[in-house]
Order: sequence, then C-alpha cells, then structure tokens
Amino acid sequence: MAQSILVLHGPNLNMLGTREPGTYGHDTLAAVNQQIADRAQAAGLNADIRQSNSEGELVGWIQSALTDHAGLIINAGAYTHTSLAIADAVRAAAKPTIEVHMSNVHAREAFRHHSYIAATAIGIICGFGAMSYLLAVDALAAHLAETERS
Ligand code: DQA
Repeated sequence: MAQSILVLHGPNLNMLGTREPGTYGHDTLAAVNQQIADRAQAAGLNADIRQSNSEGELVGWIQSALTDHAGLIINAGAYTHTSLAIADAVRAAAKPTIEVHMSNVHAREAFRHHSYIAATAIGIICGFGAMSYLLAVDALAAHLAETERS
C-alpha cells in the first residue's frame, strides 16, 4: 500500500486564486491540491491534503501524523512566523517535515524571515509558487525512499 503523507495549508490559503495574485498566482486551492495529489501519486505516495484557518485544528492534524502518516508537508502561512504551538506539534509528531512557502519569504518583509518550524524541518522550499509544493512532494518521496533503504 502507498505510504500516506499529510499536506497542510494554513490560514488564508483557502483564498488562493483571488488572494494577492501577484504574490501567490492565479491557481485556486482546489487546482493546487489536484497538482499535489497527482504528483504524490506519481511518486507512489498518497497525499492527505487539508487546509485550516485555525491554529488548534492544524495542531490536531499535525499530531495525527505521529500515527497516521509517513511525513508532513506544511505551509503554515502566517503561523510560520508566530506559532510555537505548531512548531511544538511538528516536533511531537516526529515525522520528516518539509516547510513550504509559495512566495520567497526572504525577499519580503523582515517579519516573514523568521520561522518557528524551520529548525524542526528536514528542509524548506520557498519562492516557486504552486511548484513549491510539488518540489516538496518530490523531496519528501526521495527522503522516505532513502530512509527505507538504510
Ligand atoms: C506564505 C508566506 C507567509 O508569510 C504568509 O503569511 C502566507 C503565505 C507563502 O506561502 O508564501 O500566508 O506562507
């Protein structure tokens, strides 16, 4: 059976398509999710993809990765820069995690340069729009395959 990965979108990412298209592009969340699901399937993984505007709901889903998922891809949106609770949940889930941002956060305001999640992630991908998620799927698939071999 295909390994399951959890793909989480945080606050305001439900507004993709209409939200600041110059920064986040014109694809809707549904369109991005279809691309993620297809990419995961091509890599032999099953993607469980969810979005929430609520910090607590995201924390609960991240905790579930401990028992239900082989790895995690997370774009925590603004919670990246503010949430110790989400960073602690990622640490507690103890699964390979890739932090994703559609925009290049380092080319934006200074408050977007710090991430509470980054220290717990195996890597960070930012700046490639919807493709950031697809690169993360490929990276996580390669990481899981490598871990299985060793
Ligand atoms: C984002 C960058 C964050 O700074 C911002 O708050 C978001 C989206 C990105 O995907 O580029 O909501 O995570």
